[in-house]
Amino acid sequence: MSKKIVIANWKMHLNASQASLLLHRLQERIRIHREVEVVIAPSMLVLQPLSVQIDRRKFRLAAQNAYHQDKGAFTGEVSFTMLQDLAHYVIIGHSERRIYFNENLDIVSKKVSACVRNGITPILCVGETKQERKLGEAKRVIHDQIYTALSGLTTSEVSNMIIAYEPVWAISTFGGEVATPAQVGRVLEFIRMQVEELYGKQAAKKIRIIYGGSVDDKTVGGFLQIEQCDGVLVGNASLNYIKFAGIVDEAYRQSLV
Ligand code: PGA
Repeated sequence: MSKKIVIANWKMHLNASQASLLLHRLQERIRIHREVEVVIAPSMLVLQPLSVQIDRRKFRLAAQNAYHQDKGAFTGEVSFTMLQDLAHYVIIGHSERRIYFNENLDIVSKKVSACVRNGITPILCVGETKQERKLGEAKRVIHDQIYTALSGLTTSEVSNMIIAYEPVWAISTFGGEVATPAQVGRVLEFIRMQVEELYGKQAAKKIRIIYGGSVDDKTVGGFLQIEQCDGVLVGNASLNYIKFAGIVDEAYRQSLV
């Protein structure tokens, strides 16, 4: 069984002292697990102070976004180059960025390229809206998101990355309908098939494919049991240290079976 990954997406929550306190509580609760990788994606503002505070035996850091140019006159932006020493991963193409900040397939693809060019591992988010699902377009949408985002990458770059399936309708901020493990399992399998078609068996085997959408300490077990599921991306529940530590504990328990 592959090592599971559990990622906390703190979104635009927590100022510097609140973020530091939450990390402190998580460090108290979460033990060093060799079988589970735990990643924290705080706001850009606190990546630097948390990088000093963080216990690297327990956690890795991720950024929630970055700009695809390495440097220049782009007021307000932070580049992947600037994140090189700070973040192990960057979340790219989250549905909130696609919807609220008009990030289209082209922008997401440029960000994935910039990410790997700078030696950072992308966590690419894909997923259909409720409307697209109703119209029977989910597979086409996910195919297009993967196909465009991965174009131009080498097989080894693809093998190392993470794809997070996050159906927009299941994300807590967009309605948070509960997806069943069976529904999720079918899509994760479809995603792995897409990777196999584009980059071959080895890449499809190695790439990590995870699930996100209203995951909490109660529901995580069902998702982690899906054969194709290498981990979870957690939003809302990651802001609660008891719930998030519970999610990590469950991933650890499952690694023992
Ligand atoms: P949620 O968010 O767990 O609050 O649904 C997941 C995400 O948006 O990554």
